[in-house]
Amino acid sequence: MRTRVAIVGAGPAGLLLSHLLAAGGVESVIVESRTREYVEARIRAGILEHSTVDLFKSVGLDERLQREGDEHRGIYLQYPGERHHLDFVDLGAHTVWVYGQTEVTKDLGAAREAAGQQIVYEAANVALHDIETERPFLTYTDTGGSPQRLDADVIVGCDGSFGPSRAAVPQHARQTWERTYPFSWLGILADVAPSTDELIYAWHPDGFALHSMRSPQVSRLYVQVPNGTDVADWSDERIWAALATRLGDGENGWRLTPGPITEKSVLPMRSFVMAPMRHGRLFLAGDAAHIVPPTGAKGLNLAVADVALLAPALSALLTRNDPRPADEYSDRALRRVWRCTHFSWWMTSMLHTGEDPFDAQLQLAQLRWVTSSEAGAGGLAENYAGLPIGF
Ligand code: FAD
Ligand code: DHB
Repeated sequence: MRTRVAIVGAGPAGLLLSHLLAAGGVESVIVESRTREYVEARIRAGILEHSTVDLFKSVGLDERLQREGDEHRGIYLQYPGERHHLDFVDLGAHTVWVYGQTEVTKDLGAAREAAGQQIVYEAANVALHDIETERPFLTYTDTGGSPQRLDADVIVGCDGSFGPSRAAVPQHARQTWERTYPFSWLGILADVAPSTDELIYAWHPDGFALHSMRSPQVSRLYVQVPNGTDVADWSDERIWAALATRLGDGENGWRLTPGPITEKSVLPMRSFVMAPMRHGRLFLAGDAAHIVPPTGAKGLNLAVADVALLAPALSALLTRNDPRPADEYSDRALRRVWRCTHFSWWMTSMLHTGEDPFDAQLQLAQLRWVTSSEAGAGGLAENYAGLPIGF
C-alpha cells in the first residue's frame, strides 16, 4: 500500500492530523495498534483551550461540542478556609470548554469515517523504516496475521508516550529532558451531578484535590496519592472522605455530593520533552514528543497545537515542494511545548504537598499572590486558557 503521509496512532493527534491534511488535499493512512472502541473509550483529558475549540470550529468539528460541551469562564483555586474564583474573561483571557477527550475522539473518528479515511486498527508489530530517506515506510502485521507494508513520503509519529516512533530517532540525533514527580493522581468518574459550576483546584495539607466534570450528570475528581498506590487500597468511602476533607465539604455552606463511582485509576506524573520533533522524513506530534503532568490541563491541547502547525507544513512540502514550514516545525512547536511544560510544572509544584514544611509555606504564599493580585491571576488565566496556536 502507498500513501503520502503514514500516521502512526489514532489518538487525538493522529485523527486530527489526517482531518487537517485532507482539508489541504493531502492523503494519509493511519495505523493504530488498538481497536476503535478502545481508543474512543479511553478516559483522559477534559478541558479544551479556546484555540483548540476555534480550530475545531474552523474545520467543522464543533457541532456536538457546541451542543454538549460546557463553556467555563474560569476556575476556583482554593487553600484551607479560602476559595477564590479566577474569572479568565475579566482577567483579559479567554474561556475554556469542558468536553471529554472520549467525545473529541468520537467526533474525529466519525468525521474521518464519513470522509472515507483509511484507518488500520489492531495493527501489531508496527515498525518504522528508512526515515532518513525520501521513501520511508511502515511495516506491521494485520489482524489476519499477515505482514503488511505502507510506503509514504512522510511518516508522522502520533503514537503517544509508549509508541515506536520516538524510539526510531537515533540516540545521537535527539536530546531529552525529564522530570518525574514524587506523587500520582487517583482519578474517578462518578454518576453524580457536579457539586460545583466550574473546576476547583485545591491545595490541602493532606494533598491536592481537583473537582472536574464531564456533564450535568457525571463528575470527574482526582486526589493526590503517593507513587506506587494500589487502587485496591482506596475504597469508594475512603476516596469520598479524602475528597470531602481536601475540597472543604461543609466550609462556607459548600457541600460535596458523593455518588456511585464508575471508574477508578492511578496516574503517575511526568514531564518529558524530546527535541527536535523531526528526524529526516519522520515528524513527531503530541505525547510522542512531550508529556506534561495533567495539573495544567495542557496535554491534549498541545497535541492539537502541534498538528495545527504540522498539517500546513506537510501540505507545503508535499503539494508545493516548499520545505521551509516543515523545516521550521520543530522549533515553532517546541516554543509552545516549553511554555506549557513550564506552566504545567508550575501548577503542579504550587498545588501538590510533600514532606517539607518550608515548601508548604512557599506554596501558600504563591497561592495568596495568585488569588489576590491581578498580575498573578492574569498570568495563570492567560496560560490556562491557552496561548495562540502560533505562539
Ligand atoms: P494518545 O492519546 O496517547 O494517542 C496515541 C495513540 O497511538 C493511541 O491510540 C495508541 O493506542 C496508539 N499507539 C501506541 N502505540 C502504538 C503502536 N505501536 N502502533 C500503532 N499505534 C500505537 N490533556 C489536556 O489537554 N487536558 C486535560 O484535562 C488532560 N487531562 C488528562 C487526564 C488524564 C487522566 C490523562 C492520562 C491525560 C490527560 N491529559 C490532558 C493528556 C492527554 O490525554 C494527552 O496529552 C493526549 O491523549 C495526547 O494525544 P496523542 O494523540 O498525542 O496521544
Ligand atoms: C481534568 C483533568 C485535568 O488534568 C485538569 O487539569 C482539569 C480537568 C479532567 O479530566 O476533567
